[in-house]
Amino acid sequence: MQSEIPVLDLHDLAPDAGPDAVKRAADALSKAFGTYGLVFIENHGIARDEVEALYDTFVDVLDRPSEEKASWGGEDIWYQRGWTPPNTEQAVVAGGQPDFKECFFAVGGELDERCKRMWPELYCDNVWPENADAFKEGTLAMSRAVHAIGLKLLRGCAVALDLPEDTFTSRVEGAASLSRILKYLELSESQLDTGILWGEEHTDFNLLTLLPGGAFFYEGQRVDTPPEGKVGLELRTRPTAEHPNGRLIAGRPPKGCIVAQVGQQLEVLTGGRFLATPHVIHAPGATGWTRTSFAHFVHLHGMVPVVPLEPFADADEDYAPPVLAGTYGLKTLIDIGLAPKSNLDRLGYRHYGRLADIRAREN
Ligand SMILES: [Fe+2]
Repeated sequence: MQSEIPVLDLHDLAPDAGPDAVKRAADALSKAFGTYGLVFIENHGIARDEVEALYDTFVDVLDRPSEEKASWGGEDIWYQRGWTPPNTEQAVVAGGQPDFKECFFAVGGELDERCKRMWPELYCDNVWPENADAFKEGTLAMSRAVHAIGLKLLRGCAVALDLPEDTFTSRVEGAASLSRILKYLELSESQLDTGILWGEEHTDFNLLTLLPGGAFFYEGQRVDTPPEGKVGLELRTRPTAEHPNGRLIAGRPPKGCIVAQVGQQLEVLTGGRFLATPHVIHAPGATGWTRTSFAHFVHLHGMVPVVPLEPFADADEDYAPPVLAGTYGLKTLIDIGLAPKSNLDRLGYRHYGRLADIRAREN
C-alpha cells in the first residue's frame, strides 16, 4: 500500500536545480514536515550496499567484550561518543522504561572551538575501537554523506517557509551534528507480549534527523524480509480536531527511499509550523530478531538561540523561555538519563563563592 507521506526527489534540491524543481521540493517539505514531521527521499545517492557493509562492521565491533566496549566513551562524556550500553537512555515521557538497544556515536564534521570549551561533553572528540578501521571509515563516510543530504533539505525547508535560503544551514556550521549506529536487541522468551518496545515514543531534540535505512537480522544473519507484524518505525501525525491525538501511521519508506524527520529544534525555530515527529520503534513478536539502524542528527550550533525565528514570533509563548542550543542539549541529556542532574547548577552565575571568600577574609 502506498504511504500518504510525501516523497521528495533530492534532485529537486541540487545546486543547479531550477526554480520549478525547488518549488516542488519545498511543497513536498511543507506538507510532509507540517503534517507528519517526516519525509521520504528518493534519488538520495546513498548506496544500500554501503549501508549494509557498515552494519556488518558494526555488528563485528559489538561482538567485542563489554569491558572493552565500556572503554569507548562512557558517562564522563555523557555517552556522546563511542558506546552506549543497553538500558541506559530513556525517553522523557516513557515512565522510566529504558530503550532496548546499544549504540555507537560519532561526529563526522569539524567542531567549533568555542563550543568545545562551553559544552565539552557535547563537543568532545571521537573515540574509536582499536583495529576497526573499516567501521571507523564507514561511519565517517556515511555521516558526511547523510549530513550533506540534511543541508540540502534545510535549504528546501527555508524556501518552503519563505525564509532566506541559508537560514538553517548557516545555523548548523561547526555544530556537533552526531551520527549514531544502533542495534536493537533480541527479545527473550519472557519478554514477548509484555509490551516492551525497541524505542519508546519520543521526539528527537535536534534540528533534523536522517535515517538511511535499517536492517533486520535473524539469529545473527542479515535478512531482507522483515519479521511479521507491526515492527520498526511508527509515527504520530499532527493532532487535528478530527484526530486530537494525531494518527499513528507506519514510517517504513517506499523501497529505495530514505527518511528525514523533524526534531524539536526545528519545531521551535519554525514556531511549530514544522512538527517534531513523535515516533516509536516497535519490537517484533518473536525471539531471534535484532535490527541495526543509522541515524544522523543535524544539530544547531551550540551558540544559536533555540527560539522561534522572527516571522514566527506569534508562537513565542509556546516555546519560552529561550535557551542556547548547547544548553538545550545539556538539559535534554539530563532529561533522558545520560547527564547528571548536577549540571543544572552550572547554569546562571557560578561565582558566588568568590565573594563569600573575600567577605570571609574581611572578617
Ligand atoms: Fe528518535
